[in-house]
Amino acid sequence: MEKEKVAKIKELQKEKDVVILAHYYVDGEVQEIADYVGDSFYLSKVATTVPQQTILFAGVNFMGESAKLLNPEKTVLMVDECADCPMAHMISTDRIAEVRAEYDDLAVVCYVNSTAEIKAVSDVCVTSSNAVKVVSNIKEKNIFFVPDNNLGRYVAEKVPDKHFIFHDGFCHVHKSIAAENVKAAKELHPDALVLTHPECTADVIALSDFVGSTSEIIDFATGSDCRKFIICTEMGVFFELQQKNPEKKFYSVGHRQFCPNMKRVTIDKVEDVLTKLGKESLSEKEVELSAEVMEHAAVPLQRMLELAK
Ligand code: 13P
Ligand code: SF4
Repeated sequence: MEKEKVAKIKELQKEKDVVILAHYYVDGEVQEIADYVGDSFYLSKVATTVPQQTILFAGVNFMGESAKLLNPEKTVLMVDECADCPMAHMISTDRIAEVRAEYDDLAVVCYVNSTAEIKAVSDVCVTSSNAVKVVSNIKEKNIFFVPDNNLGRYVAEKVPDKHFIFHDGFCHVHKSIAAENVKAAKELHPDALVLTHPECTADVIALSDFVGSTSEIIDFATGSDCRKFIICTEMGVFFELQQKNPEKKFYSVGHRQFCPNMKRVTIDKVEDVLTKLGKESLSEKEVELSAEVMEHAAVPLQRMLELAK
């Protein structure tokens, strides 16, 4: 990336008191200029500690909403306000009310990939890196896990003493990685380990050597003595994998591991938001939630941070 562009972005950030948080799925050049890069859990924790008055989020909407819920007094801006996770909209408040009416001793566990309105009617949030731990620490016997079916089933296997009610949400990027793709990659690279995100389907998980969040996949590959890895998650993670492990080889499953929403976030848009900030209205980019949603949706997020400690 051009040095002048980086210098300009850094200068604007300093002048306007802005911190940039980026998810591992955005483009490498955006990860390069971000102040903090991580998985959903890390980014929600970091959001509570940064001193800057404005958070510029390089990710999808639910991530910006989480940052706002945990920091109501701060301004949270999205690099691209149209970058949205389809899975976040795959469960309704009506369905949650129906299941609540059906079961006693129920906890509604909502994957952080959900809207603030859904969080507002949930008991606790989880991310892919803490879901097993958080669900194990919940006292209720019945767990309604929303919206991701694959992550829900993965957690249920690890926490067999709970009774799970699943929903049918999914991530189209991870769901489209088929077991056949993984088998073909294994044939091409028989000495590679398969590292997989738990949003993948159970048959892909069954073929894997390690299952974890984006950060956990990067940490596993970095700490491993193995030198070759087949990666079953969105391709954005290849940037950090390669940065941290220039001598190791990382293979895709030969399939479109591409989240079109995360890829809406570009370095030019980062520069544009920073240039306009304070000069013209950026109201369409600002994360704004109703007072009621703010009050209720922060509770399950705070509970997650407590239970995941
Ligand atoms: P993690 O950041 O928890 O690995 O989740 C991946 C994801 O799909 C975010 O959209
Ligand atoms: Fe949503 Fe999947 Fe994209 Fe993550 S990778 S933002 S879960 S569509």
